[in-house]
Amino acid sequence: MNLTKLLYGGDYNPEQWLNLPDILRQDIEYIKKAHINTVSLGMFSWSMLEPEEGVYQFDWLADVINHLYDNGISVILATPSGARPKWLADRYPEVLRVNSGRQRELFGGRHNHCYTSPVYREKIALINRKLAERFAAHPAIIMWHISNEYGGECHCPLCQEQFRRWLKEKYQTIEYLNERWCTTFWSHTYQSFEMIESPSEIGEHMVHSLNLDWMRYVTDQTADFARHEIKAVRSGGGSQPTTVNLMYHYAGLNYQKLADVVDLVSWDSYPLWHKTEEIDTARNNGMQHDYMRSLKHQPFLLLESCPSSTNWQSVSKLKRPGLLSAASWQAVAHGSDSVLYFQIRQSRGGSEKFHSAVIDHSGRDDTRVFREVCKIGTELEHLEELIGTMTPTEAALIYDVENRWAIEDSQGPRNKGMYYHQAAMKSYQALRKQGLNVDVIGMEQELDSYRLVIVPMLYLYREGIEEKIRHFVESGGILLMTYWSGVVDENDRCYLGDTPYGLTDVLGLRRTEIDALFDGETNRLIFPDAPEKGSYLCQNLCELIAPKGAQTLMQYGEDFYKGSAAATKNHYGNGVAYYVGTDAEQRFYDDFLKKIIIENHLRPILNIEIPEPVEVTSRCSDEWEYVFIQNFSNTEVSIPWVQLTGEILLGTAGKSILPYETIILKRKTATHKS
Ligand code: GAL
Ligand code: ZN
Repeated sequence: MNLTKLLYGGDYNPEQWLNLPDILRQDIEYIKKAHINTVSLGMFSWSMLEPEEGVYQFDWLADVINHLYDNGISVILATPSGARPKWLADRYPEVLRVNSGRQRELFGGRHNHCYTSPVYREKIALINRKLAERFAAHPAIIMWHISNEYGGECHCPLCQEQFRRWLKEKYQTIEYLNERWCTTFWSHTYQSFEMIESPSEIGEHMVHSLNLDWMRYVTDQTADFARHEIKAVRSGGGSQPTTVNLMYHYAGLNYQKLADVVDLVSWDSYPLWHKTEEIDTARNNGMQHDYMRSLKHQPFLLLESCPSSTNWQSVSKLKRPGLLSAASWQAVAHGSDSVLYFQIRQSRGGSEKFHSAVIDHSGRDDTRVFREVCKIGTELEHLEELIGTMTPTEAALIYDVENRWAIEDSQGPRNKGMYYHQAAMKSYQALRKQGLNVDVIGMEQELDSYRLVIVPMLYLYREGIEEKIRHFVESGGILLMTYWSGVVDENDRCYLGDTPYGLTDVLGLRRTEIDALFDGETNRLIFPDAPEKGSYLCQNLCELIAPKGAQTLMQYGEDFYKGSAAATKNHYGNGVAYYVGTDAEQRFYDDFLKKIIIENHLRPILNIEIPEPVEVTSRCSDEWEYVFIQNFSNTEVSIPWVQLTGEILLGTAGKSILPYETIILKRKTATHKS
């Protein structure tokens, strides 16, 4: 789905200001001045829209929408399920969540509702349909924002029943479930589905397959709720595209399934800037952008971001001048067709009164933040040609949320500190440092379009992943797999026989043991028979590998397995499979992947040495490629400009790149493609 403009604006909560019409009037002037073209409305407006059960009051919203539209501003209209009114909770306590300790929560906060409750489903369907009936035909409405940041789980009796139905459908017989869940261990055998309870810290929480299926069920139930909400919007005539706003590195849901029910993926990005080196934060955030884009392999939306500081991080640091611009352009560089903020006007009271906004409590338009917001708005307005452009990628990283659930729960070699995310980040960073775009995908996705696939710590297999990987290498792909892969099936049952399961011939090796290191303890990776080439540190986990055809590239330098294989290479079919058996330091991944990229002729976006605080990304249409060169530091960095040809669309084209500057270079797509 293509937009007609790069969306610029953010969450707007005029319902907090209805008694101050001057503020609302002033907001419109400021919104226009900042080149804002879109706002999201209604995320938390339920009690203003339905102050009493069945009494709908939409006129105030109509006035706001009309006023915005008359001033050229589009609206993303939200369904209000992110926070329910008190009357609803008081009259129908079943809408409130029961926590895993089996205690029903009181009314409070937001996002505290049962996704199964028929009452909650009925009430949300009613208001969604009515909102659509009233506003769907309004030309201001360009999109539906379904709920707000779905998340959390409910353990109420209704949800328990639904979970049992879900299990019955999946396993059919209780005997089969027992077999898959390995319940004979510790005498936990179930005689019927009715005996099953969701995991709880006061009860069952060590049947790992129960825990995994519970997370899968919560995902399916949440996606079903989202589908239910969308159906109601559609039944009221709302035909505009839908989106759900996803969160940073959220482990509570498999986002792929949520992405599948909406038209556009969007997410809310709140990195902790200025705590470590900016480029490290940028790479971490960049990986998240890439993950969001890869859910649908199409441009996504940055639906929320923060104009300056948040108020919920432990320290609320101001964004340094220029950083907002860098962060906003980074989203676009990674495939976003929007830059949207939380929030347009800072609320006067409530828990977010100190969260930054485009317009702060002073109500002035000469603030530092407002000026930066204006500058970004002007720049975006001139770059509409970026809309809908895609991200060309030769490399993918499998970073899978179900695998993450399993690794963290499995009671394996290290119960604290398996570092899955860090392991994925190491390869991701190494690829980015070489100037490659990266897709970040789950096991559901196909591999065939890539040349290089990196598979860190793929402990749990599902979706026939081992066959997909085998096929990928066989047909000429380059694989890099790392330690603790191919250990269990989707029920967390250990594979019997040689591991990494199903791929020992592809990798030309088998794992014999895995050693866990204490915190602070290290081993070393050394080059076989070439001590002069130096070494790399490794930590946390060291696998013992028996090569069976694979060439040993690195050996362990210490301990009883000194001299045995730690990193290998194997030719299989038309492709190559590399394996790294230990948690090696970043420098190792940087060097190792650089070599792999050069040897296999992968094509970086620019043929230059990228200076450390700089990120290079690209988007392209059939005809044009847009290269983004961003300085994530507050010092000027010199760049080898000789190599860069094309039209400069943004930024200065000197011999250096200014602090936090973004340069956009436009050139023919053909210069990049072979
Ligand atoms: C988001 C949420 C917004 C607002 C924001 C503050 O997670 O969707 O409603 O609370 O955080 O940073
Ligand atoms: Zn429930």
